[in-house]
Amino acid sequence: MDTIIVLDFGGQYTHLITRRIRDLGVFSEILPFDADLEKLKKKNPKAIILSGGPGSVYEQKDPRLKDEFYQFTIINKIPVLGICYGHHLIMHQLGGKVESKEVKEYGKAILTILEPNLLFDSLEKEQIVWMSHGDQITKIASGFKAYAITETCPVAAYGNQEKLLYGVQFHPEVSNTPNGIKMLENFIFKIADCKKEWKLEGWINKTIEKIKKEIGLKKCILGLSGGVDSSVAAVLLHKAIGERLHCIFVNNGMLRKNEEKEVWETFKKRLKFENFHYVDAEDLFLQRLTKIEDPEEKRRIIGHTFIEVFENKTIELEKAYPDIKYLAQGTIYPDRVETSVTSKVSVKIKSHHNLTLPDNMKLKIIEPLKDLYKDEVRKVGLRLGLPSYIINRHPFPGPGLAVRIIGAIDKEKLTILRNADEILIEEIRTAGIYDQIWQAFCVFLPLKTVGIMGDYRTYEYICSIRIVESTDAMTANFSKLDWEILERIGTRIANEVKGINRVVYDISNKPPSTIEYE
Ligand code: XMP
Repeated sequence: MDTIIVLDFGGQYTHLITRRIRDLGVFSEILPFDADLEKLKKKNPKAIILSGGPGSVYEQKDPRLKDEFYQFTIINKIPVLGICYGHHLIMHQLGGKVESKEVKEYGKAILTILEPNLLFDSLEKEQIVWMSHGDQITKIASGFKAYAITETCPVAAYGNQEKLLYGVQFHPEVSNTPNGIKMLENFIFKIADCKKEWKLEGWINKTIEKIKKEIGLKKCILGLSGGVDSSVAAVLLHKAIGERLHCIFVNNGMLRKNEEKEVWETFKKRLKFENFHYVDAEDLFLQRLTKIEDPEEKRRIIGHTFIEVFENKTIELEKAYPDIKYLAQGTIYPDRVETSVTSKVSVKIKSHHNLTLPDNMKLKIIEPLKDLYKDEVRKVGLRLGLPSYIINRHPFPGPGLAVRIIGAIDKEKLTILRNADEILIEEIRTAGIYDQIWQAFCVFLPLKTVGIMGDYRTYEYICSIRIVESTDAMTANFSKLDWEILERIGTRIANEVKGINRVVYDISNKPPSTIEYE
């Protein structure tokens, strides 16, 4: 299959480039800019894109490519497109000049195309493009032609048709460059001559065949949380190996109302999973969390206890089914790609996210979704018959309601929170806005305040409503919800949930707050 490799120089849009290319029907993967040339060759790329990045090519410390990289692409006629930092880098390394500019260019600019060329094929002479740069090319290297300019940028795009090297100063991958997709399309199909071979339908069939071949007649276990990734991995494996898939669903006591029932009904009844193992570990988790107030300690206990419970169940199953040799995980592409940004600047805010099991389990890991983005995982899930309420569900943290109850947890607080949360989600769904929101949930604040109900004084807890909009959870804004909807939610929770007499709406954004409370 034709593959386009995106070399990452730490740009914030690197994943977006890959996703856009896949949407155009061509498979694309990210490698760090300093990936070994042998590794790159093994991927047999049909074309290579150099991403943007925060560096300046004239700074010695900032990333660059080895000479062999250019020799490899030129000799093998592999087209290369540099975007922003990548655009500067090609020029800087091959004889041009890049300098810092006094007037930086951020935001929309008008691009004027200088002469007909394949990169801008079938586009009007003037284009709106998205710029974000402080450096620019001041001298073009020999053999290269300036393809386009803006008012302040003399080489906003260039090409060298003989060596198949191209560059654009702007970001074609963002929606603020309205014809950016067309430009990427030109690069992929007209310059690199790629075939449209990346189709999820084909991927599903191929992956099922691959799993069948790999697992053979052995058996596989999978920790099913009911979240999108593990659910889609489960159906894919079930299609491949049927009853030889053993799913373990652990009730850690921190689930939402009726969640264990819903997951059971979906997998056991609707999808007819023969081996769905439900482990009720609620009491164990609650007992270990008694009086624990520190958020990190709560997360640690939940993580460790989960592994212990999962491991014990696996050992029990291994005795009953001696051929269990595989452990499937719902790892998806962004979970495992180490991009240049994440590898360099990563500060621990919360001990996240998904747990990895200890090495001593000696099971072979199988990760069928490891090449897919979340939206692709969702599409696969829908095609394989998973109901949309699982596919389009808001994210839910591994430690569950434990990080939505401030401080120590007990059954009473959990019940209060579950009841409040049920009302919130019901109202959000009734208002028809569930799918437009990134996450909506209730948080239990262990503070009592005075209220009045009928003629009686009440002294009960506070419920905080958290509704946020986001695209990737890295940043988030509180949702500016209609007052009427908020009023209905608040009134219902205060009236119907025993233990709550006051409801507040959280108006903090991320940063400086986080989405979850602990
Ligand atoms: P924060 O609270 O860090 O959350 O702004 C960002 C996103 O991650 C989810 N989240 C988790 N997901 N395990 C998970 O699988 C966790 O431990 C965890 N903690 C937070 C959170 O719901 C939000 O979508």
